[in-house]
Amino acid sequence: MSFDEKLYAEIIDSLTVGKDYIMEAARAFRWDLEQGLKQTDYSSLQMLPSYIGLPTGQEKGEFLTLDFGGSNVRAAVIRLLGNSQYEILRMVEKSLVTDEYNLICSHATCEELFGFLAKIIGEAVEYNKDRVLYLGHTFSFGSEQRSINEAHLIKWAKEFAVPGVEGQDINALLTKALVSVGLENIRPVAIINDTVAVLLTAAYSFPDTRLGSIYATGHNTCYMEQMPDAGRPACIINMESGGFSKLVPTPWDVQLDNESEQPGRQRLEKMVSGRYMGLLFSKLLAQLFSLTEKPSFSAVDMSAIMDNPEKAHAVVEQLNGRADDELSEKIRELCRALAIRSSRLVAATWAGTLWHLAGRGRVSAQHIAIDGSVYQHMPYVKENVMRALYEILGEEAAGLEPVLIKDGSSVGAAIAAAVATCPK
Ligand code: BGC
Repeated sequence: MSFDEKLYAEIIDSLTVGKDYIMEAARAFRWDLEQGLKQTDYSSLQMLPSYIGLPTGQEKGEFLTLDFGGSNVRAAVIRLLGNSQYEILRMVEKSLVTDEYNLICSHATCEELFGFLAKIIGEAVEYNKDRVLYLGHTFSFGSEQRSINEAHLIKWAKEFAVPGVEGQDINALLTKALVSVGLENIRPVAIINDTVAVLLTAAYSFPDTRLGSIYATGHNTCYMEQMPDAGRPACIINMESGGFSKLVPTPWDVQLDNESEQPGRQRLEKMVSGRYMGLLFSKLLAQLFSLTEKPSFSAVDMSAIMDNPEKAHAVVEQLNGRADDELSEKIRELCRALAIRSSRLVAATWAGTLWHLAGRGRVSAQHIAIDGSVYQHMPYVKENVMRALYEILGEEAAGLEPVLIKDGSSVGAAIAAAVATCPK
């Protein structure tokens, strides 16, 4: 097995994004955001209104929630206590992909998928049919929202490919599935994106939060837009920032995009999110070691490689046929380069959004709500996000406090259900 040193140097060079690059990315992101708000054709951001604003922190009650946005689905019962307090009373988690079934691929049907979701919800309430239960649904795919309870899926992402769901009213499909398993007492009342859920959860405790981001298998950011737009209320906007397409991709980003389920879409997400970082890393290794069969490494493997030199040795042995210290260090460097590029690009989109929120003024001190395994677990990410924010915003970054929100997708869905059912 040979290792292509020249290619390696080229890859590391093209993954390194300096200060000028991220400054320009932040400017381009703000421009796209503002064009998207005006609904011009120039923007790559969908800027989807969510029909919900920030909570007061006093919302109360017991709600059912469904968190559906990746291959693991969670149904929960959550009690909001007001005063920024909540309790998770019960949570059931299931995978949509196992050795026996795959409910995300093109062979699965819409009925199978939603039937499965209805059953998990049934387990979370232990088939309690005695009283009406309100359900908040966090649905983490770009959807066109028409009211707080009506969202139509625009396009699947994250390699989901179940036919018959795009274009549909998602909570209507869920309601039908609940009825068909005898759970007509469960009423979906709100549907939100996971970024919105994370922002709602953070703002329940930290009222100065304006921006919510998911940095995990997928990637996206929302923010609270204060300016009511023609015919639209001031509300949280789901930017679908993973679709930002104004960055110059490397040749390997282009190849990855061409091989994906949805070429041309989610260009930023394919450069920064966990799912795609793993795919990109595997692709790069295949080319570097001239492998005929592409290896399959995930973002979790990448974290392990960065954390532990032994893991890097094992990977090199697997790919190269024998251990090699120098190559192990190169593999670790490749992971670092991918992780640091990802953090710097994500930070640039946040900076662009914060500039928009600041208008002509200074970026105000605030919490930034984040959820996601990449942010939480991948080495180098947290500190490089902050470093890049400082590079772009200078001392204004000092007032920014990123907060990691756990269970935000479930708690935020409960808050949305509380807002939707609160008598006006
Ligand atoms: C989806 C977004 C979602 C993000 C994080 C993306 O693939 O399009 O709606 O917020 O993943 O889950």
